[in-house]
Amino acid sequence: MTPDAAGSWDELAARVRMCTACPELTVTRTQVVPGVAPPGVEVLIVGEAPGAREDEAGVPFVGRAGQLLDSLLEEVGLPRDRVAVTNVLKCRPPSNRKPRRLEVERCRPWLRAQIAVLDPVLILALGGTAAEWFAGASARVAMLRAQPLDYEGRALIVSYHPSAAIRFGPRGMPLAALREDLARAAELLESLRRGAR
Ligand code: URA
Repeated sequence: MTPDAAGSWDELAARVRMCTACPELTVTRTQVVPGVAPPGVEVLIVGEAPGAREDEAGVPFVGRAGQLLDSLLEEVGLPRDRVAVTNVLKCRPPSNRKPRRLEVERCRPWLRAQIAVLDPVLILALGGTAAEWFAGASARVAMLRAQPLDYEGRALIVSYHPSAAIRFGPRGMPLAALREDLARAAELLESLRRGAR
């Protein structure tokens, strides 16, 4: 299965579901998790890879990290039903290990095709794996966050992964930074909309 001929997000998702490019993940996954895009959304959120809950449900960010993300999105006025959500890897790595470089490269054409089909004005890359996908292997969230970047003519905001926010706790820096970056993303979206009028 290849991403070529774009079509709609759902047509693309149907092709992603048949992907067998990574032999190990094809065997260990319960199902492929292509991502979710309600009609007409302007924002794409990109995480790392499905975890156990997402592998079971077939939907990204439904576990603890997803619940935190949902509540932060709600706080900044960008509710989950107004954003698209996907991951760098569409299959769960066994035992939630880090995605391997080769897996990321094999999966890259799917995310590229999703961006082309969705045509988001703003992309939010959450965590190191997503930051590297957009900004290259030397990308570090701490260096890239807090300022809007450009990804092929689209606004890109890099921030911490909600799992890091959970790991470091309610007083930890990643939660504060993520909250701040999501608020910045919502403001930026507003100003991009005003500019487009
Ligand atoms: N972490 C991610 O990066 N993506 C998910 O979908 C769930 C947890």
